Amino acid sequence: MTNNTPEWNNFPAGFIWGSATAAAQVEGAAAEDGKEESVWDAFAAVPGNVRNGDTPAVAVDHYHRMPQDVALMKDLGLDSYRFSTSWARVRPGGRDLNRKGLDFYSRLVDELLEAGILPWLTLYHWDLPQALEEAGGWTNRDTAFRFVEYAQDVYSALGDRVAHWTTFNEPFCSSLLGYGSGAHAPGRQDPRAAIAAVHHQHLAHGMAVTELRGLGARELGITLNLSNSIPRDAADPVDVEAARLFDSLQNRIFLDPILRGAYPEDSLRDLEPYGLHELILPGDMETIGAPIDFLGVNHYHDDQISGHPDTSGSDGHGGGAGRPTASPWIGAEHITFPSRGLPRTGMDWEVNPGGLRTLLLRLGEEYPQLPPLYITENGAAYDDEVLEDGSVPDTERTRFILDHIRAVSEAISAGADVRGYFVWSLLDNFEWSWGYSKRFGIVRVDYETQERTVKDSGHAYRQLIAAGRSTA
Ligand code: NOJ
Repeated sequence: MTNNTPEWNNFPAGFIWGSATAAAQVEGAAAEDGKEESVWDAFAAVPGNVRNGDTPAVAVDHYHRMPQDVALMKDLGLDSYRFSTSWARVRPGGRDLNRKGLDFYSRLVDELLEAGILPWLTLYHWDLPQALEEAGGWTNRDTAFRFVEYAQDVYSALGDRVAHWTTFNEPFCSSLLGYGSGAHAPGRQDPRAAIAAVHHQHLAHGMAVTELRGLGARELGITLNLSNSIPRDAADPVDVEAARLFDSLQNRIFLDPILRGAYPEDSLRDLEPYGLHELILPGDMETIGAPIDFLGVNHYHDDQISGHPDTSGSDGHGGGAGRPTASPWIGAEHITFPSRGLPRTGMDWEVNPGGLRTLLLRLGEEYPQLPPLYITENGAAYDDEVLEDGSVPDTERTRFILDHIRAVSEAISAGADVRGYFVWSLLDNFEWSWGYSKRFGIVRVDYETQERTVKDSGHAYRQLIAAGRSTA
């Protein structure tokens, strides 16, 4: 392995270097210790929904291998581990507490603290209890209230040891992909349902922030997946309008309610036919705009947008691996994603590290109320090659990660208040509708034996963290 340690380490003291996973993607133990079905268990059980018929039932067996996995994190030198709690484990039917399920997270937190690793907890990374989906899921306003109860349970058990609380991970996916395009669980394809899911997840976020703050939480935030929406031709009004629509649905209908307590005017107009106005009850926007202490940014790629049919041949924006999907671009189904000819990852997502710098700076310019930022996910899927000596020289992933960290460093130099970076992902894992066919880990998992092997990207990341420590 070459020495990848960058010389451009201008990260502020206390900058957090971490790695992330999510419950449904790593835990397995899908029906153990009282856990019941989540929407992802149910969705994956339907043939055609997930590539190769893969399911989260076993995943990378983290539920049983947690102590070894924490030892691995320690060996990598991580400051922090971002994980999610599974609602279907903590409150299996969505309504009553399952003490055994909660205990797993208590053990995990103890193990992390013992290893000197900061726990970074996300309450919702897409695994709604199936019982609540059957009661309407996120189209039902009541689900937001059930979420707050679940958040209270988790906080009561872990609030003494966990400082950082994230309500939702990428609500874009669990609303627009889950209820609009159907590429994600629960697999519904109904634009009105998708918009209801957006609003009710916002509401659940705001209510939980208020509730947990009242209980004593001091570091509360949300993680959004944001991308720059670049018109193919900035002089073509059709492309400019398509880019505006895309930016509204991908970024601003999430950022604005949370940071400004209001939906953007243009989004309200666009989404009127899908019932957004009717969903907003008095007081909702104040609740949703409750101040937060950090914003988590997940960034993988930008999007070049056009309002014309795509003739470039590769838009890399399919979303779902299995079943035919509708567009999540509610009211903007005509938009296309023509290729800019940039290199692509194994997800067919374009590689453009400078986009992350642009995005971080844009947030600061457009949102005066912006709290400190953390990159809560960034990384890449590539097909790894395992050499005879067992090493995994994942050069492209290593490059991707280091180049993006450099972009973060540049953004910090230009004034962005970024306080941490979490690589996605610690381990290869269940990549939603792509099943196990896409590997994002800096640690390889052999799915037959569950053996873990640190890839070159993991070694490079360890080196980078260690170098930062030695100069701190
Ligand atoms: C974002 C999601 O939060 C995570 O669950 C997923 O695996 C990565 N993106 C990669 O697609």
